[in-house]
Amino acid sequence: MNIQEALEKKQGEITIHGWVHRERGNNNLRFLIVRDTHNIIQCVIKKEDVDETMWGAAEQVKVEAAVRITGTLRVDERAPTGVELTATEFYVIGESNEFPLTKDLSAEHIANNRHLWLRSRRMNAALKLRAACFKAFREYFDGEGFYEYHSPIFQATQTEGGSELFSVKYFDTELYLSQTWQLYAEAGISSIEKIYTIAPTFRAENSKTARHLTEFWMAEMEQAFVEVTDLHTHAQEVIRACVRYCLEHCKEELALLERDTTALQAVLEKPFPRITYDEAIRKLNEEIGMNVEWGKDLRTLEEEALTKLYNVPIIVTDYPKEVKAFYMKETPERPECVQGFDVLVQGVGEVIGGSQREEDIQKIIDALKREGEDPSEYEHYLDTRRYGSVPHGGFGLGMERLIAWIGGLDGVKEAIAFPRTPTRYNP
Ligand code: 4AD
Ligand code: MG
Repeated sequence: MNIQEALEKKQGEITIHGWVHRERGNNNLRFLIVRDTHNIIQCVIKKEDVDETMWGAAEQVKVEAAVRITGTLRVDERAPTGVELTATEFYVIGESNEFPLTKDLSAEHIANNRHLWLRSRRMNAALKLRAACFKAFREYFDGEGFYEYHSPIFQATQTEGGSELFSVKYFDTELYLSQTWQLYAEAGISSIEKIYTIAPTFRAENSKTARHLTEFWMAEMEQAFVEVTDLHTHAQEVIRACVRYCLEHCKEELALLERDTTALQAVLEKPFPRITYDEAIRKLNEEIGMNVEWGKDLRTLEEEALTKLYNVPIIVTDYPKEVKAFYMKETPERPECVQGFDVLVQGVGEVIGGSQREEDIQKIIDALKREGEDPSEYEHYLDTRRYGSVPHGGFGLGMERLIAWIGGLDGVKEAIAFPRTPTRYNP
C-alpha cells in the first residue's frame, strides 16, 4: 500500500515501502519517518514486538535507507501526518551510507548534491508540478486540434540573436544548439497547419538570475491562418489550462510549497489585460513615476512594476521593431512597432514571447541584413514566403518560468531536476 492510502485507511494491518526520512529513538524503541512519493508516515519499532534480526536492522538503519515495514495503523495526533504505524516486521531493502544532506543545507552543498536533493519534499512537489504542466499544455493543444511536431536541435543559423548561441563541432563544420523551433515550425504549418512542441532549448546567456537557465524547456505553438489576437487567446487559455490542472491535481504539492492559491484562482476568472507597449510606457512613467525611455525593451524591474498593477497575467503587445526579432510582422497602423507580444506574470516576468510573422519576403530580408545576417543562409526559411505564404504566427512558453510562477518557487532552478547555468553543469 502506498503511504497516502495508509494515512487514509487509518487502521488495520498493512505493508508499506519507502525511504527513511528521519530517525531517532533509544535502546528499546525506534521512531522512523518513512517517505514514498506520496507522503510521509511515522513508524514505531519496539524491541519487544519484532524478532532479533529485525531489531538489529532497526537499530542501525540510517536516513535514506530503503525499507519495508508491516504493522498496525492507528490515529495519533502527535504524528506528523496524524497516523502512526507500529511495526510487526521490519526489513531493510537497501542500506544507506551517512546521507550528505542532513546537516549542511547551504545552497552550494545542495547544488553539489542535486541528485540526492531531488528526494527532498520540496523537489518532489516541484517535479510533480512540472509533470502536471507538461501534461496540461499537451492536453490543451491536443484539444484544439493541434499536432505535435518536432524541429531539429542541431541548427545551422541563429533565430533569437547570435550572441546567445551555443556552437557545437559537427564533423567538419560548426552548428548551433536550438534556440527555438520557430524557423522549422513555419515550414511545418504549410503542411499540417496547427502544431506544438515541448523541447529542450539552449541559450548562452551569461545571466545569473532567478529566471535564466542555459538549458530550458520551451513549449511552442505555431498556426496557419490566424491573426495576432488569436495567439493572445491561445496564450491566455493555455496558461489557464495549466493553472486549472495544477489546482485540481496538485493540491498537496501547492500546499507543501505554501503557494497562495487564491491568486491562482483569480487567473481563471478574469481575462488577461492586453495593453500596448505604448500604454505600458505611459503607465510606467505617469502612474508609477518611473523614467523609461520609449524604444527600449522592458527590464525586469519594469515588468515587475507593471504586473503589480494587476492581479492576473498581462499581455503586452506591439513592441518597438528595434527590440524584437527579424521575423515579426509590422503593426499595420504603427510601422515603428511589430505585432510581437509578451505575457508577463508577477514575480517571474516574461513567461511567453510570441508574434504574428512577417509575410513580406523583402521586409524579412531587410530585417536580417539589419541584424548583420546573410539572407542566403536562410533560403529554406525564405522559401516559406515564396510558395503560398499565409497569415500565421505562434509563441514560446518557458516551462520553468511557468512552473516557478505556479508553484511560487524560488526561481527557475527549482523547476527542473538538473538546472544548467553559466557556472553549474554538474551533477
Ligand atoms: O521570447 P523568446 O525568446 O521567444 C522565442 O524564442 C520565439 N521564437 C518563440 C516562438 O514564437 N515560437 O522565448 C520564449 C520564452 C520566454 O518568454 C521565456 O519564458 C523562455 O522562453 N525563456 C527562458 N527561460 C529560461 N531561461 C532562459 N534563458 C530563457 N530564455 C527564454
Ligand atoms: Mg522574449
